[in-house]
Amino acid sequence: MSERIKVFAPASASNLGPGFDVIGLALEQPGDVVEAELSQTPGVKIAEVTGAESLTTDPERNVVAVAARAVLRRLDLEARMGVRLWLHKQMPLASGLGSSAASSVAGASAVNHLLDGRLSQIELIRCALEGEALVSGTAHADNVAPSVLGGIVLIRSCDPLDVVSLPVPPALRIVVVHPHTTVETVTARRLVEEHRFEIRQAVTNLGNIAALVSALYTGNLELLGRSIKDDLIEPVRAPLVPAFTQVKQAAASAGALGCSISGSGPSMFAFTASEEVAHAVASAMQAAFAAVGLTSNPYVGSVNTRGVTLLSKT
Ligand code: HSE
Repeated sequence: MSERIKVFAPASASNLGPGFDVIGLALEQPGDVVEAELSQTPGVKIAEVTGAESLTTDPERNVVAVAARAVLRRLDLEARMGVRLWLHKQMPLASGLGSSAASSVAGASAVNHLLDGRLSQIELIRCALEGEALVSGTAHADNVAPSVLGGIVLIRSCDPLDVVSLPVPPALRIVVVHPHTTVETVTARRLVEEHRFEIRQAVTNLGNIAALVSALYTGNLELLGRSIKDDLIEPVRAPLVPAFTQVKQAAASAGALGCSISGSGPSMFAFTASEEVAHAVASAMQAAFAAVGLTSNPYVGSVNTRGVTLLSKT
């Protein structure tokens, strides 16, 4: 029997207000689990997908296999080695939680473990980006990089890849509320691509992303909260999120430092300075979604600083 690897790759919240495509953080929960084994036949096969009926086991069209194959190719092993994968989706699709990134990262990481971890973390990010590009149309690393590295990650450049891990203030808590509706990333990105922006909007975001980074380095949570201001993307995408204004208002009234859309939505995230306030903010956001008839799931906790993790090797 060949060795079986099992890994967990965390969900992520990206953009964080002003940082479209350039910043994201890893969550403690939810995330995806992938199991992998080497096989005699060259190529990548998906043995099973659990937890998401709509996902295909076709290795050409499922990000988990695309990312896994990228690892074999990078190590020049594609023609000689085969891999079988089991994808256990433990998070919603099209949710704004970096679902495709988590599957891609888990697939790439599991195969890398089978091959004794020959690829570096930055190479793993590159492989997982190939999966991410399949579903969202473009390779953007603001979900993949935090899912690999953990913590809060700045993407200085995607091509060439250049990422910077930022400090995580110990008191910082993150709330993500996922309303039970979907937004396809590709649709949300097309909205942005087709929109004409004004320079003053970009200037507001430049100031805020710089302040956000400064706030993380200094641990100034009040400044962090003021920096969660997005004049570029949020106004364009807000109509995709039911009750957007009410949810944001509810988070503020319950004591959130700042609140905006998580990734391309429909999930919304908020920062708080304590666990207690985080739970109150999550309840208030859920109540605002419920007022328009939407049930939701709350995820409350610290930033996940570990990133993708090996669960077992048997
Ligand atoms: N930065 C991306 C976006 C995240 O907002 O489109 C979604 O994958």
